[in-house]
Amino acid sequence: MENKSILVVGGTGYLGGKVINHLLKQNVKVSALVRATSNTKELESKGVTIVVGDISKSETLAPALKNIDAVISTAIGYSNRKKGDNLKSVDDAGNRNLVDAIKEAKIKRFVFTSVLNVHQAETVPHFWQKKLIEDYMEEKGIPFISLRPGAFLDQSPNQDFYAGGLKKGSLRVMGSTSIKWTNILSEDLAKYLAIAAMDERIPNGRIDIGMNEPMNPQMLASFASEYSGKQIKVSALPWSIIGSVFSFAGVFKSEMYDLKKMFDYMFTGKYVADTSLQQKYFGEVPTVKDSVYRYCEQIGLPKNNKT
Ligand SMILES: NC(=O)c1ccc[n+]([C@@H]2O[C@H](COP(=O)([O-])OP(=O)(O)OC[C@H]3O[C@@H](n4cnc5c(N)ncnc54)[C@H](OP(=O)(O)O)[C@@H]3O)[C@@H](O)[C@H]2O)c1
Repeated sequence: MENKSILVVGGTGYLGGKVINHLLKQNVKVSALVRATSNTKELESKGVTIVVGDISKSETLAPALKNIDAVISTAIGYSNRKKGDNLKSVDDAGNRNLVDAIKEAKIKRFVFTSVLNVHQAETVPHFWQKKLIEDYMEEKGIPFISLRPGAFLDQSPNQDFYAGGLKKGSLRVMGSTSIKWTNILSEDLAKYLAIAAMDERIPNGRIDIGMNEPMNPQMLASFASEYSGKQIKVSALPWSIIGSVFSFAGVFKSEMYDLKKMFDYMFTGKYVADTSLQQKYFGEVPTVKDSVYRYCEQIGLPKNNKT
C-alpha cells in the first residue's frame, strides 16, 4: 500500500468525491481526471492533483496515466449530467477509450464501478452497457476489479428518493412496498472502491456489493420509525401508471426510458446480491438496520434518544 499513485475518474461526482475522501486518509498520492468545464475548487483545496482530461477524448488519457499505479472510475454519462453526455459518448465509447489507454499504459489495476447482476439485465441500457465494458476489459486482458453495487440507499441530495417522505412521516414509493432488492450506502461502496485500488491481495474479478440482505420500502420505513420513534407510513403509487409516464417521457429523454426499464427489472425481484466475496475481501457486510440508521442520521431525521 506504500505511496501508490491512484487516479480517480469521476472525482467531481457524488460517489467519486467520497472515494477521494477515503483515499486521502491513506498513504497514497491522489489525482483526479477532470473535464475542463468542471469545478475543481473543492478537490484542489483537499490537495488532489488535477489532470484535465475527458474519457470521450482518447487523446487526453495517456498524459493522465503517466506514473499511475491504479485507476478507479465512477464516471457515468447516460444520466445526461452535462450537455452532450450520453450512453454512447461516455458509458460506451468513453469507457472503451479508458480501457484502451489503461492497457497501453500497462496500469496494474483498474477498479470499475459497475452495477449488480448486469449480466441478467439486457433490457436496461445503462446496466447492459456496464456488462459490455466488463466483457471488453476481459477481451483486452487488462487487470480489473469490477464492483457491482445494488441501488444506493442515499442518492445525491437533489435525486434522493426517500429523504423527503421519511421526514414527513409518510413515504410514497413507486410500484411496490414489498418487493425487495439490494441496496448499499454510497459511503460504503466508496470505501470498497478505494480499498480495491490499494490492496493487491484482492484478486481481479467481479464482486457483488450490498447490505447483508435485500430490503423493501416496508423495512426501510420500519427501521426509520424505530430510529425516529415516530411511525412512518408507507404506500406505493401503482407502477402501471408511473411506468406509463416514464415510457411517455422516454420518447423525448433517453434517460427516462432507461429508468423505466431499470425499475421493470428491479421489480422482477432478481436485483439481489450474493455478498460472500464482499465479506471475504472487505470484511463484515453492513446490515440493513445499521445502514438505515446511518442513512437517517445523514439526512438529518431527528433521532429518538431511546434507540
Ligand atoms: N445511483 C445508484 O443507485 C447506483 C447504483 C449502482 C451503481 N451506480 C454507479 O455509481 C456511479 C455513480 O456515480 P455518481 O453518483 O458519482 O455520478 P455523478 O454524480 O453523476 O458523477 C458522474 C461523474 O462522471 C464524470 N464524467 C462524466 N462524463 C465524463 C467524461 N466524459 N470524462 C470524464 N469524466 C466524466 C463527471 O464529471 P463532470 O464533473 O465533468 O461532469 C462526474 O464526476 C456510476 O458509475 C453508476 O453507474 C449507481
